[in-house]
Amino acid sequence: MQSSQESELFLRACRRQPVERTPVWFMRQAGRYLPEYRALRARHSLLALCRTPDLAAEITLFTVKKLGVDAAIIFADLLLPAQSMGMELQFVEGEGPVLADPIRTGEDLRRLHLPADGELECVSDAIRAVCAELGGKLPVIGFSGAPFTLASYMIEGGASRDFLQTKRLMFHQPVLWNELLDQLVRVLSDFLRSQVAAGAKALQIFDSWVGCLGPEDYRRYVLPATRTLLGNAQALGVPVIHFGTGVTSLLELMKEAGGDVIGVDWRVELDDAWRRIGYDVAIQGNLDPALLFGPADPLREQVERILRQAGGRPGHIFNLGHGVLPGTPVENVLDVVEMVHRFSSGTR
Ligand code: CP3
Repeated sequence: MQSSQESELFLRACRRQPVERTPVWFMRQAGRYLPEYRALRARHSLLALCRTPDLAAEITLFTVKKLGVDAAIIFADLLLPAQSMGMELQFVEGEGPVLADPIRTGEDLRRLHLPADGELECVSDAIRAVCAELGGKLPVIGFSGAPFTLASYMIEGGASRDFLQTKRLMFHQPVLWNELLDQLVRVLSDFLRSQVAAGAKALQIFDSWVGCLGPEDYRRYVLPATRTLLGNAQALGVPVIHFGTGVTSLLELMKEAGGDVIGVDWRVELDDAWRRIGYDVAIQGNLDPALLFGPADPLREQVERILRQAGGRPGHIFNLGHGVLPGTPVENVLDVVEMVHRFSSGTR
């Protein structure tokens, strides 16, 4: 485990304060590529793991102990709030998440309700358990989906390639669209508040699928709700990471929407992205997760390239451009942690 000064690395980088070396963590650092996770998963459904605080805490903890990363992300899923609002959620083998009776009409929207008291407590209970065990040695990141990405699952009923139903509702029923987003902002703001109250020291907002929109549509249909959510999150007094994929054309607007840190994927060069959003926000990213399938040379070269692009400027958090993929060799993930720590301590 790390010394208490090291435990501050991640939070200091989020605030663009100088650090001795670049902090690193990974989206989906707990997942199917880890044998310990697969062993637990063989005995419990994904939802049971997410909704049983002791199990979610255990997964969060064995992951950070194994990887030696600089932050823990609480084990949960982006879709739990949709389930708590009354939608039936299943994870279907080989197909991913499925939400029954997707939201397409005003009547569908009226079926949704605010989560009952305690419905999302499993996540804050898990955060409390992780914090008790880590004793302040490592910060815990809480998270939620952004309004667009969560709405897209609720409207499509699952994953989507073209987001046709989502865009139809957004373009053709803008009043309904805004009502749905407003309701999500309310639910997600409360959810994030409960995570910080339980001990989360930072928050990440995943707008994983917003890259399917062009800038003008983002500005008009998405930015206002996202800005309200991010403002509510930032008002909780912890650093907030605003993450998207495929957002090369949206970076300036995502910054306008808010966040202390903007998370970017590999489709944009890190130095380019940082120049465009400005050095008054921190940046997170952006290794292509496919590089983790080895061999070591290209992996090392690209880790170094990203660190060179960040140039030792305060406010870089090393991460992948998206989550760790199933089948990733664990030793390569461990190697990246070691490389980031070693290379970055030599550049300042
Ligand atoms: O380690 C961590 O990052 C924390 C755990 C975490 C999970 N989901 C657990 C999980 C986090 C942060 C998420 C967020 C999440 N969930 C997102 C946003 C991040 C992103 O990837 O953009 C999204 C879009 C979801 C919805 C979701 N959940 C999808 C699309 C899938 C994949 C389905 C599949 O079968 O591939 C999931 C399942 C899921 N959530 C897994 C894990 C570890 C793997 C499934 C399993 O164990 O069966």
